Amino acid sequence: MNILHISIECYPIAKVGGLADVVGALPKYQNGLGHDTTVITPFHDNPFTKDAELAKIHQGKIILGEKSHTYTLHELISPNLGFTVYMVHIPKLLDRTVVYGHYDEAERFIAFQLSVLEIINEPKYTPDIVHCHDHHTGFIPFLMTHAEAYKNLSSIPTVLTIHNAQYQGQLGYDKLYYLPTFDQKKIGLLDWGNKINPLAAGIKSAWKVTTVSPNYMKELQYSANGLESLLRSENKKCVGILNGIDTDTWNPETDTMLVKNYKNSTLVSGRKANKKWLCDTFDLSIDTPLFAFIGRLVNEKGADLLPEIIEESLSNTDINVLVLGSGNHEIEEKLRLLRDKFTDRYHVHIGYDEQLSHIIYAGADFLLMPSRVEPCGLNQMYALRYGTIPIVRRTGGLKDTVIDIGDGGFGICHDQVLVWDVCYSIKRAIALYADQSAYKRLQRQIMKIDHSWHRSAQEYVNLYNSLIQLK
Ligand code: ADP
Ligand code: GLC
Repeated sequence: MNILHISIECYPIAKVGGLADVVGALPKYQNGLGHDTTVITPFHDNPFTKDAELAKIHQGKIILGEKSHTYTLHELISPNLGFTVYMVHIPKLLDRTVVYGHYDEAERFIAFQLSVLEIINEPKYTPDIVHCHDHHTGFIPFLMTHAEAYKNLSSIPTVLTIHNAQYQGQLGYDKLYYLPTFDQKKIGLLDWGNKINPLAAGIKSAWKVTTVSPNYMKELQYSANGLESLLRSENKKCVGILNGIDTDTWNPETDTMLVKNYKNSTLVSGRKANKKWLCDTFDLSIDTPLFAFIGRLVNEKGADLLPEIIEESLSNTDINVLVLGSGNHEIEEKLRLLRDKFTDRYHVHIGYDEQLSHIIYAGADFLLMPSRVEPCGLNQMYALRYGTIPIVRRTGGLKDTVIDIGDGGFGICHDQVLVWDVCYSIKRAIALYADQSAYKRLQRQIMKIDHSWHRSAQEYVNLYNSLIQLK
């Protein structure tokens, strides 16, 4: 089967969050199942594309409102990511360094989608399955079914994966003219709340809709940033498939980003070397348990609670805290200010640093994830694989992947998004850490949990097969 994933992010080409990790791993595992899997993504103007070896394989034109743009399709020759990668290059519009937050976001995402449609309309690039990711690709299932120019594509099954329904990419009707001619009777499919809503359009038009964990699928029925009733009415075609992780990239035994590699039997010395590096680098004390947070500093991740959690916990207990992330400037500032108060037990690194994140997974003792919304969450799975115990709020995919030690599990869970709840979990973690033999036993246990993509990659393939049979 020829599977085409369409995504704005793909690790290591461009990564902002977990979307990149998923699109950079799932295709490799699908190839492993004997399929021919391709990812199509923008050509971003970043260090990856500068160093990569690319081959121009196709060129074409799209019309976006009054403007026409030439796009070039490049194939990634090296490095080999384990699947075929096509990059769509549209000079000045799509090839930017930063992925999100541009004033012309709607134009950028529509131009990408129109180029993809033009490309797959060429018989030699037409796949058997079109798998779209998030709102940036939500118009594709709609246009494949209802646009005059793409009617040849209407029999190809489409799957839309919702990685995060908080982001829907809404645009005003003044941008409608960016879309190619389509059956006007179907205009309602684009609409949600009197706006053009690409995520809603994708949900209504795709043959199947998936979310990145089964529990998030349930949650979306009553909490979907305005799309609840739509998800309830489309419930029959929705399914939750849990994300996996790329266990080749995320392997403490071979991870080249670590200070020292380790496996289950060498976990103590290996993790100690990584912790020591973190403590030396950030002036933390090696003898106390290290609690870390890695992620976008936004309310969705519960990051707004961090300053208070840190203040409260560091004032009353003997722990270290290390934060890596960036996002909301107010949160960043509050976290920076706390540095003056707790100089030798707390550090915040504002920014994005892939290597540092790996060392933290390998060297921290506990990982904090007090998320309000967490469709799946990959951090907890990386933490488990590296022997770091996750402390999570029971929401979305966190609920599907972390079981509390009190229930015979391996993590620490709480229910509310409250400073008090997280601080209480931290106290439970301190008690666990104090019993070093129980703590190490747990670390050995969590490193063995299999969160690889094997099972979920097969689940997606089963889903595609069921759609192909409907054709
Ligand atoms: P989301 O996609 O909502 O941000 P996920 O848990 O799915 O959350 O994935 C986050 C990914 O981004 C993980 O690979 C995590 O390690 C990484 N990450 C997040 N923030 C940073 C950062 N500041 N530096 C390095 N990696 C980060
Ligand atoms: C989104 C979600 C995150 C999920 C990731 C990958 O960014 O916020 O929970 O893990 O997508 O699916």
